Amino acid sequence: MNLHDTARAILRQNDQGRYTLPTHGLYPYQWNWDSAFAAWGFTTFDPERGWRELETLMSGQWDDGMVPHILFHRTDPGYFPGPDVWQGRGPIPSSGITQPPVAASFMAKMLSMHPEGEQRARILWPRLKSWHDWFMKWRLDQGAVCVTHPWEAGRDNAPDWDRAMRLIDVSEIGDYTRRDTSHVDPSMRPTKYDYDRYLKLVQLGVSVSWDHEALKKINPFRVADPTMTFTLLRANRDLRDMGKVFGEDISVIDNWITTLEQGATTLWNEDIQGYDSRNALTGEFNGILSNASALCWYAGINNEAARPSVERMLAAATYGLPSFDPEADGFEPLRYWRGPTWPVMNYLVGSGMEEMGLCDLAGRIKNDTAQLMQRNGFAEYYDPISGRPAGGDSFSWTAAVWLGWAGDSFVTEKGVA
Ligand code: DGY
Repeated sequence: MNLHDTARAILRQNDQGRYTLPTHGLYPYQWNWDSAFAAWGFTTFDPERGWRELETLMSGQWDDGMVPHILFHRTDPGYFPGPDVWQGRGPIPSSGITQPPVAASFMAKMLSMHPEGEQRARILWPRLKSWHDWFMKWRLDQGAVCVTHPWEAGRDNAPDWDRAMRLIDVSEIGDYTRRDTSHVDPSMRPTKYDYDRYLKLVQLGVSVSWDHEALKKINPFRVADPTMTFTLLRANRDLRDMGKVFGEDISVIDNWITTLEQGATTLWNEDIQGYDSRNALTGEFNGILSNASALCWYAGINNEAARPSVERMLAAATYGLPSFDPEADGFEPLRYWRGPTWPVMNYLVGSGMEEMGLCDLAGRIKNDTAQLMQRNGFAEYYDPISGRPAGGDSFSWTAAVWLGWAGDSFVTEKGVA
C-alpha cells in the first residue's frame, strides 16, 4: 500500500460514522482540533464525510457559543477523565473547556477544495462566529487569548505552563486512576505532577458548573498564550473572508482582528526573542521558547525577529520543528509536548511560513514532516533527534497532514508515494 492509501485507511479505521477518533484506545472520543484536521483529511478523498465531521463537532456547541474540547458521544471506560468527571453543560456530554479554534480555517480550506460544500459552510459560518465571539468575550487579556487549562491549548504538558502550574494547590485532589499510561509508555506522557494539576482545574470548573464568570474568580490558571492567540487570529481572517463571500456582516470580525494583532504584541518576550506565554494573573512571562512562537506566520504576522530562534531550534534537531528548544534544560525528546516533533504543529507553522514567503524554512519543515511519516508511519509525535515514533499510532491528524500537505511533494516528484 502506498502512503496515501495508508493515510486514507487510518482515517477510515478511526471513523465512527459522524466523527473521527484521534486514535483507538488512547483517545476514544471526538477531540475538537483533531476533528477539524480529520475533516480536512477526509475532504481530500471523501468531501461529504469531511463536512459531516465539522457538523458533528459544531453540534456539541454550548448555548453560550463555546465548542468543547472533547465530545463524549459514547462512554468509554478506557479514558480518564470521562463525562462523569467533567460534567460539561452542553447538548452532548462534554468537557468544560475548549481547544485551539482551527475549525474555521479548515472550513475555508475545505471550501476551496470542494466548492460544492458552500451551502453547508454557510450554515456552519454563524456557529463558528459565535464560538469566536465567545473567545473574545471570555478569554482576552490585553488583547491576547488566554487558556484556563493546559489542555485548552491542546499542548498539554508544554513547558509554556511551567511557571503558572507551580501556583496550583493540589493538596485536596483525592485519588484517581489514569488510563492514558495503560495505552502508551508512561515516559512519553505527562507526569503525575502534571495530572494532579490538570485534575484540580477540572474539579474547580465542576464546582461552579462551568460558569465562566464564577470560574474566572477562582481559577488559579489563566495564561495568555501564543497558540490560542495566533490560531484565533488566523481563524478570524478566514472567517471574515468567507463571510464577505456569503454576504454576512463582518464588521465586528475586523475589530476582533485588530484587537488580536495588538494582543499578539503583548506576548513578545525580548529575553527569549520569541512569543511567550504570559500569566494573566501575575503578569509574568514564562520565559521558555517552544514551537508555539513560530505560529506567528500562520496568523499572518511576519515578524523577522522571531526567525532566528526558530532557525536555532531547527538546527539543533534532525527532524524539526521540535516542540521545545532542544538546547534548553528539561528538553525530553519523547515526552509529549516537552521535545517531540508534531506533524500538526509543523503543518500550521510550515503552511503559514509558505504563505508569508519563508520558503526555505517552510521547505525544511515540510520535508522533515514527510520524512518522519515515510520512515516511521503515522504516529502522534516523533523524537526530533532519532525520528522514533511516539505516543499513539495510526493517528488521524497525522494522516490528514500527509494527505493535505506533507505528501504533496511526493505526489508531484515521484508519482504517488
Ligand atoms: C489527553 O487526555 O491527553 C488529552 O490531551 C486531553 O485533552
